[in-house]
Parts: sequence; structure tokens; C-alpha cells
Amino acid sequence: MRLGLPALVAFFVLPAAAQPDPATAKANALLAQLTLEEKIGQISQFFAFPGMPIDDAVKTGRVGSLLFVTDPKEINRLQDLAAQSRLRIPLIFGFDVIHGFRTIFPVPLGMAASWDPALVEGAQAIAAKEARAVGIHWSFAPMVDIARDPRWGRIVEGAGEDPYLGAAIARAQVKGFQGDHIGADHVLACVKHFAGYGAAEGGRDYDASNIADTQLWNVHLPPFRAAVQAGVGSVMSAYMDLNDVPATGNRWLMHDVLRQSWGFKGFVVSDADAVKSLVPHGFARDGADAALRALHAGINMEMTFGPGDYAKTLASSVEAGRVSVGQIDDAVRPILEAKVRLGLFDTAKVDEARAARVLAAPEHRVAARVAAERSAVLLRNEGSLLPLRPTAHTKLAVIGPLADAPYDQLGSWAFLGDGAETVTVLAGIRAKLGAQGAVEFAQGVQIRRTTPSIFDILKRYKDPEPWSEAQAAEELAKAVAAARRADVAVLVLGELQYMSGEQASRSSLDLPGRQQELLEAVVATGTPVVLVLVNGRPLNIAWASRHVPAILEAWFPGTQGGAAVASLLFGEANPGGKLPITWPKHVGQVPIYYSHNLTQKHEDQAKRYWDDPSEPLYAFGHGLSYAKFAVSALALNRSELAQGAMSRGQQIEISVDVENTGTVAGDEVVQLYVHQRAGSASRPIRELKGFERVSLAPREKKTVRFALGADELRYWSGALRRFVLEPETFDVWVGTDSKASLHGSFKLVPD
Ligand code: NOJ
Repeated sequence: MRLGLPALVAFFVLPAAAQPDPATAKANALLAQLTLEEKIGQISQFFAFPGMPIDDAVKTGRVGSLLFVTDPKEINRLQDLAAQSRLRIPLIFGFDVIHGFRTIFPVPLGMAASWDPALVEGAQAIAAKEARAVGIHWSFAPMVDIARDPRWGRIVEGAGEDPYLGAAIARAQVKGFQGDHIGADHVLACVKHFAGYGAAEGGRDYDASNIADTQLWNVHLPPFRAAVQAGVGSVMSAYMDLNDVPATGNRWLMHDVLRQSWGFKGFVVSDADAVKSLVPHGFARDGADAALRALHAGINMEMTFGPGDYAKTLASSVEAGRVSVGQIDDAVRPILEAKVRLGLFDTAKVDEARAARVLAAPEHRVAARVAAERSAVLLRNEGSLLPLRPTAHTKLAVIGPLADAPYDQLGSWAFLGDGAETVTVLAGIRAKLGAQGAVEFAQGVQIRRTTPSIFDILKRYKDPEPWSEAQAAEELAKAVAAARRADVAVLVLGELQYMSGEQASRSSLDLPGRQQELLEAVVATGTPVVLVLVNGRPLNIAWASRHVPAILEAWFPGTQGGAAVASLLFGEANPGGKLPITWPKHVGQVPIYYSHNLTQKHEDQAKRYWDDPSEPLYAFGHGLSYAKFAVSALALNRSELAQGAMSRGQQIEISVDVENTGTVAGDEVVQLYVHQRAGSASRPIRELKGFERVSLAPREKKTVRFALGADELRYWSGALRRFVLEPETFDVWVGTDSKASLHGSFKLVPD
């Protein structure tokens, strides 16, 4: 092959970075032709609920992205309109594909309870495939906000309290949505809400977060960084004030941390109307100021319910010289690049017949069932009441407001989930027992949200009429009578669909409505009770933890939740999930998390409240199985390592044996916790730094290996105000929950 001189020069002289990325080249070529109005269109995203007048904006290129359109026919129609705009730039359609699109998987907190990143990745790959099939290119997930206060309704949307587990789940979700590179069955992921939303004061939704630097760097930011390192294409800003600076106007977050420090190259979208809300925050003077400050902070695109502040004010701000066209170009460029990388300039439209086939794929439902089985956490199993035996337990009473509630068990952000396709717990149990068993159902109590939810207008079902007092008494009595007649009562209690999620914070963690009364009445019959929880946050089950022999946390388990619960109850599947969050005894203990600083002698720790020990009800990482496991032979490959060697990549290797000593096959999540004994700042009592979910046949033994390196051991020192890796002694514990007791230690020594 002979190369001409220009090619040779390009090959040998130009550094690789000088070769323009084709997406950037295309974006720049478009930028050269776009008018200012059209550029502002590209950075404007509108909600497009049916009936909203958006056609004109699409045809004239005054909007670049729409959200909440899910019908492929309508998406195709809108793409046709976009193709009539001057430069024919396709629209990017976004949607909250949080835990499935049509096939609904367990809520994210439940998926995190699987401690199985491969499962999470696979579920989001299916969600991406379904969403992309109808023409959606962009999911507003993963939400990686660390939450340590279960009053906060959005705790259900994240991976719980821990930054290490949170980072692993974040990476898995980004990979699931985007693949290795975004292909025809993938969508762009959007990590949110940057940053600190989960620390809302008092667990009140949207309230201000005041987070010390140390907590930001060590707790709240790591899952975001993990998502960026995994190549996430977009980021969503948070609503609240972070240390008095609204996240959506926070240049330190969007620019210094995200772009400068982490090298993020994608684009940032505001949360819905978060730019406008900079005014009520007491931050921006008016809409024009809000737009300027958001743009300056690094918000590329404004998500808004109507013409937003970007659309209304940025053109005049450019004319007035308050912002340059170059700054607008910088905001637009990564959005156009994303449209190129998504292949929208090649094919923006979708095949509607194929979409229908993809949404109905039976293998997606199988995956949703497996996910629900692997997400469930067996909290308690006294006297091995579970698994039930179809021979001994032939007469079942299935009781409770969540037992046959097809939409509620989907959880929030499940708009396309179809109740008719959902297997409820009652249906799952009936199918499992078949003709030989007798299943009696009684709802027992009715529960209601006492205030409307913002999602009420999107519900595909009608709320039932409230029961009268007389009817309520009658229904409760029916449930008790059913329990009396049964060999075992399965009580399915928890929360309705919109009792957890956005604008679904609660001031109490008690079982809503009269569920506690129902529970106590059923237990009083003397019939053995299994409590199945369908919910999005830890609830007050302190009484149940003393009086109910078996408790299975199913979370909002999704489309196939009932089938999964039934196979778990009858032992066809074995619970292996673990709590991704500390479970308090009651609301007075929150915020609560395992990874706290010690601050005084260990034995004094329990005396923090004089009226109640500060121990939680269930520890982070807790979860039982029908099998039994023994963890032994903890070994470290060395007891000392030079600090410099670790900085250069050497690691401490840790191994442990885990054996199934039970009689059935099962999964155990082996967990590694670390504690730094001294340093420039106080360190938490222990922190998760490794985990692996292993499947073992009876008597099978496996060796699990972990490695600790600089990534795991460095932390942000509040004293030195930088990340440090300190030459100190470290404790390690390995076990099956955060109380793990198998102990070892090693030293990092100065060079
Ligand atoms: C507001 C929520 O905070 C955010 O998580 C969501 O993605 C947007 N609305 C769009 O629905």
C-alpha cells in the first residue's frame, strides 16, 4: 500500500487527539449552520404529554428533545416533523426507564438487594431494548443518590446507603443501558441527581442538603464518579440547594468536579423546571438570570414543562452581550454528538410492528421473575417455617392490601407496566399450589394515600371507593376468619405504588393505615404467619420481628413479583438477597447507617439514647437463606505493604472459604469490611470494600478472593482537604453481613 504525503503526515505527525472524532466533526458542521434560535432549540427539552401543542416547535427546530412520549407511532410522527425542520436534526426522546419499560423489574432498591451487578446490568439491558424499540433513546437513570433516611420517598429509586455497593450498581446500570458502545438496542444513560439529593433534611423531598466536604467526597460522590468512569453519556442536576448553592446553578459541581476533575465529556440536563426554580430558591433574580446562571454552571439542556428560561431568555442575553455564542455552542455540541452516536441521523424512526414484538418478549418476563427472586431478602425465619411444604400446607389464607394489587406491586416509575400482565402474589401462590391446594383470599384492610400524588394523572387504574366503617370491620373479620381456617396465613403488607418515590416522603415508617391491627389480629389466631412485605423503604416491623416467625422482604417486585414470591415461599427459589440499607426499629432512629464514626468506646455505643438502644432492627447486609453457610480460613497474602507500592497499583489480596453446610442449594453474599485504625481524620467503624454473591450446592465450598488497593483505601481527609492513602493499620472483616466477625489486619508502611 502506498500512502500519499498528506496521509503520511497525518499518520506520523498529527497526534491521535487531533483526529477529529466523527461525532464532534458532525456536531461542529451543524453548529456552523444553526441559527441562534435553533441552537437554543437544541438545548431545550419539553414534556410532551398527549394534547400538548408542540408540533410547531418541533417543525421549526425550537426544541431538541421531548420527554414522556412512549407511543412509537407518535414518536415516528414527531420525528417526521423534525425532519421537516431546516437542518433536519432528529429529536432525542427521553423517559424515566427506571426499573423496566413495559416489563417491570423490582424497584432499584430491590435490585440493589440482589448484590448482583450482572443481574442489574441484564435487567437494564432489557429495559433499554424495550425503550429503544419504541423510539426512546435516553433513560433518566440510574439514580445513584445515597440515602440514609428512609423517610425520604426516593430511597426506593437508589441502591441504598452505601457508596461502594452504590458505585458497583451504578456501573452495572450504565453498562446495561449503554452497552460497550451505544448500539441499536441501547439507550443513553443519565446518572442523577447530581448531587446530594438523598441527604434532604428530615427526609423531606426537595429540601436543602447540607453536606460536609468529607461526606460529599467519601459518601455521596463515589457512585457518580463510578458512573462517569463507566462512560455514562449524560448527567441530571438535582433540585435542592447543596450547602446553599442550588445544584442546578452549582458550577463547582458541574464544572470543577464533573468535567475538570472527572473528565466528563457528555451533557448535563437540568431536572424538570429546576432552572426556573433558581428564582424561588432565592438564588437567581429572574428567569433570564436563572438561565444564565444555569448555563454558566454547566447545564447543557433545560428540562421544562413549557417554554423554559433557556428558550425565553437566552437569545436576548446573547444580544445584550451577557453570554457569548461560543458558550451556547459549547452547551449544544455534546447534545449533537450524542444524537450522532445514537445513530439518530441514520435512523430516527422505528418499526412499530417490531416494537410490539420486543415489548411482548417472553424472555423479558422470565428475567423479571428471576430478578424478583434474587432481590428478595429473607429477614427472619424462626423454626424454619419457610419454605412452605405443599404437602403440609395445603390450606392457605392469603391476606392483605398488597396481596392482589397488580399496579401497586410495580412501584413508582412504572407507567407502561400493565396490570393485566402482572402476576400478583395471590395469583402466584394459586398457580403454584394448583388444584391440590385451597387458597382463600381476604384483603383485610384498605390503605390510601391521604394526599394526592403528582403521578395520579398518569395512573392507568381507578382508586377503589373508600370502605365505610362497617365494611372495614367486616373485611377485617373476614380476614381473621380466613386465617383461622388455614394451615398458614401469608400476609402481604406494605405500601401502595405511590407511597414511595418522588413526592412520597413520610414522617412515619409505620405500616400505613390499619395494617398493624390486621397483622396483630391474624397473629392472634395462632395460625403460623408468613409476612411478605411489598414496599419501597424499611418500615416499622419491630412488633412483627418478635411475633411473626417468617418475614420476606419482596420490595415492589414488578411484573412477575407474585410468581417470584410464590417460588420463594415454596422453596423452588432460595432467598439470597441482602439489605442494601440498615433497617431501623422505628423512625426515631433515623438517619441510621452502619458506616458511622465511632466517637467513643464501642461498648458505650449502645447508650446513645437512654430510652432505646441504638442498634437497628436488621443490619446492613443482613439476609437469610434456606441453606446455611460457614465462612472460614480468612487469609491475607501479606501483613504489610509499602504505601508507595500500593499507590503504584499493588494490592493486599484476601481470601476466604465459604461453604454451604445446609441441605439445599443457595446463594451467600460474602462481604468484606475495612477499618482504618488511625489517620489524619476519624474513619468510620467499618466500610464495605468488597462483595461477591456465590451459589453453592449442599456441602460445596468455594474460595472467594478480594483485593484491596489504593482505590479502596484512599479517602478524602477533612483535615488535609484532599484524598489521602495513609500508612496506618487496617482491620478487615469478612462475613455475611455488616456485623461480620472473621477478622484480620494489615499495615501500610511508609516508603
Ligand atoms: C423529576 C425527577 O426528579 C427526575 O428524577 C425525573 O427524571 C424527571 N422529573 C423527569 O420525569
